[in-house]
Amino acid sequence: MSPATDVSEQSQKRETADLAPGILFPYYGRGDQLKAKHVGTQMASGRRLETWALGLVPVVSNATILDAGCGWGRFTWPLIEEFAIPSTKVTCLDSSLGMLETASEEAARRQHRPGYLSADMQALPFLNNCFDGAMANHVLYHLTDIEEGVRELARVVKEDGWLLATTNSDDVSVPVLEFHYAALDRLGIEYEREAQSPFSMENGEALLSSGFKEVDRSYFEDETRYPDADGFLASYKTIGRYRNLLARQDIDPDKKRQLPVLVHQQAEEVIRKRGELRSPVRMGAFVCRCPRS
Ligand SMILES: C[S@@+](CC[C@H](N)C(=O)[O-])C[C@H]1O[C@@H](n2cnc3c(N)ncnc32)[C@H](O)[C@@H]1O
Repeated sequence: MSPATDVSEQSQKRETADLAPGILFPYYGRGDQLKAKHVGTQMASGRRLETWALGLVPVVSNATILDAGCGWGRFTWPLIEEFAIPSTKVTCLDSSLGMLETASEEAARRQHRPGYLSADMQALPFLNNCFDGAMANHVLYHLTDIEEGVRELARVVKEDGWLLATTNSDDVSVPVLEFHYAALDRLGIEYEREAQSPFSMENGEALLSSGFKEVDRSYFEDETRYPDADGFLASYKTIGRYRNLLARQDIDPDKKRQLPVLVHQQAEEVIRKRGELRSPVRMGAFVCRCPRS
């Protein structure tokens, strides 16, 4: 049902696999940057999105769970360590072999043994009704056909099973992106400012309804605080928009070097005036039940 794959063997083929259609950005070539971003982001309240979101679903011990678009395993590890799911009952699926490699290193460090699978979640290689629960956290906005991905998740979840899908809200403006775009403007670097997310807390319910009869939405609101500009810069350097820009060949290397300097300056300015830099956090989770057959 959930064939565990030898990731180290697969990773030997990574050079070509990284060019596969599922590999959207250089940022997802491996999971180190994503992990650094997640580990380095502390909420002012002390809460964590993962624990909060997993608390919304009925996780029973011995359940078989699919983590689709698992990344480095941000949600996999609390599922095993805090919600007592045996690691062998969890399947980590991602289209990026590099991500799975990072996840498998993390699993080895934590002495867990989940299954790994490199696949596109728009065409899941599983039989119908085989998982008690599935997760698609901060991933659905990457799919070329979101409804197809949702229908696939609904197909592999059992009749009384669930899907947990976390994502961001479009209804918030964060300094890290405002400073990034302001720096690009100052350097005369051309870019396309991202429009609405294809899958957000605001538009997600309709998309999930293509696969599930019941969809519940819950917001997670908090704040991150930076007392110094160096901490803010460290966080900026992990965001996908900056890392993807570094990989662009059409940008003068001098401008790439100046970008973090300008972001740092803007953060310093705010901290000098207000004593700290505060960034709102607005995201959340959908819990879906009753898959449409
Ligand atoms: C933002 S990360 C989220 C990772 C993890 N779920 C989390 O919340 O930390 C998105 C992940 O989805 C993976 N991904 C993107 N498109 C995918 C697809 N079509 N099928 C499977 N995985 C995909 C990426 O490789 C990346 O690891």
